[in-house]
Amino acid sequence: MEQFDLVIIGSGPGGYIAAIRASQLKMKVAIIEKYKALGGTCGNVGCIPSKAWLDSSEKYHELVHSFDVHGISAKDVKLDVKKMGDRVAKVVSDMSSGVGYLMKKNKVTVYEGHGSFKDKNTVVIKGEKGIQEISAKNIIIATGSKPSTLPNVKIDKERIITSTEALKLKEVPKHFIVIGAGVIGLELGSVFKRLGAKVSVVEFADNVIATMDQDLGKELHKVLKKDGMEFYLGHGVTEVIRNGNEVSVKAKNKADESIIELKGDYVLIAVGRRPYTDGLNLEAAGLKVDERGRIAVNDHLQTAVSNIYGIGDVVKGAMLAHKAEEEGVFVAELIAGQKPHINYNLIPGVVYTWPEVAGVGHTEQELKQKGLDYKVGKFPYLASGRARASNESAGFIKVLADKNTDEILGIHMIGPRTADIIAEAVVAMEFRASAEDIGRICHAHPTYSEALKEACLAATDNRSLNT
Ligand code: FAD
Ligand code: NAI
Repeated sequence: MEQFDLVIIGSGPGGYIAAIRASQLKMKVAIIEKYKALGGTCGNVGCIPSKAWLDSSEKYHELVHSFDVHGISAKDVKLDVKKMGDRVAKVVSDMSSGVGYLMKKNKVTVYEGHGSFKDKNTVVIKGEKGIQEISAKNIIIATGSKPSTLPNVKIDKERIITSTEALKLKEVPKHFIVIGAGVIGLELGSVFKRLGAKVSVVEFADNVIATMDQDLGKELHKVLKKDGMEFYLGHGVTEVIRNGNEVSVKAKNKADESIIELKGDYVLIAVGRRPYTDGLNLEAAGLKVDERGRIAVNDHLQTAVSNIYGIGDVVKGAMLAHKAEEEGVFVAELIAGQKPHINYNLIPGVVYTWPEVAGVGHTEQELKQKGLDYKVGKFPYLASGRARASNESAGFIKVLADKNTDEILGIHMIGPRTADIIAEAVVAMEFRASAEDIGRICHAHPTYSEALKEACLAATDNRSLNT
């Protein structure tokens, strides 16, 4: 039986990054992946294909709807959805091959097949090559997550679909019904809206992207609604039925209990994701899942069995690729005897709609709940020279700082390229900057990032220079 220092089950961003870091730290590493394509949810049916669709659809949408104001007009614009989808598929396969290349370069042995525990040091792999067993000093479970569904709703993967199928649609839906105004619902709803579908979003909460700072959801809701997306907030879905190529969705208004019924040709179920541990035979290693189906881990991402760790979507915390990556590095370094650290408060969240939405640190609601004394600085893109030059003036940056010390406690933004600007916010907070620190740093003019400086100045003592 082949022996390894570290065996990783799952090749998503958690697993493959852990494999590379462990190999850099001189461990003999194997990674097991049940699918032929490496890269996990993120690479194959998540971050990468969704961003590829978002970028392609945004280009089309701009050409059709936004270029005119710049004095550019185009006639007979044609949309080739198949070609668009083929490009996405190529991006995905290139990404997956890239992960394969990285495994080879870092001398990580890749096993294709389904991994399960025989005991706490032995993993069985069932694949096309038959059954193999490998032995490991340490094991990382990085098996990720799968889409959740609603009680009584059967996902048929044709008309009642999850993000996995939506990312492979070969046509633009006529009426795309989205259940859940979270990240997936609004990103994929935006894709098909831009490509010409009618999009209706049904959401149980009273706001969209409800886990982020509430001002962001309010602004995003306003912009998307203005663009023609239809919203039914405060509505809980009670029934989803398919009849041939038609789907019908019923939802109950929380306030007055009235029922709405929507009919469309596709319904996307985007109500969250569940940790994936199916077929791992956890009991054989002495492991259990917690009340939410996650692999239970301590603050060192270690399970109840000391040589087995869990990372990424399959454990507690945000279901984000960069969180999984940080955890992969963390565990590899921990096993190597180092003392790594992750600041979970500073994991940024980004929604790649247009305008983009991003946040890090505490939301205003959290600060209120904690009873902390805070001050707010806000800068609207309407007052940004760069945003005006680009005709992109929706949104704002909001900085929350400690009222007494001026330390930044949270930064929340919606606007052009905030997915990238948030990195500056994370750096600032990682170094425990005060709002004034960032307000006094020179930012190139005219850039979108100046809005962060201005919001920090506004938070310092209402000193914004441009509002
Ligand atoms: P995964 O990426 O889910 O990988 C787990 C891997 O383990 C899979 O390949 C699976 O096949 C394999 N596996 C499972 N069980 C076994 C087994 N027993 N044996 C062998 N292999 C097994 N996050 C972001 O940060 N940014 C984004 O823009 C973003 N966009 C997203 C868009 C969509 C549509 C979706 C669905 C998700 C998106 N996410 C995004 C979330 C992100 O994809 C996940 O947080 C991330 O992939 C989690 O990484 P992971 O390594 O924990 O698990
Ligand atoms: P989500 O948790 O973001 O949103 C699900 C939404 O569905 C919630 O707003 C919830 O209130 C709503 N909902 C639940 N039951 C409902 C019902 N019966 N009727 C109406 N609404 C209902 O989950 P989502 O969008 O499925 O995404 C899953 C995960 O994937 C997220 O945790 C996210 O972190 C990750 N992801 C990240 C992306 C990014 O970083 N840009 C992009 C896509 C996904």
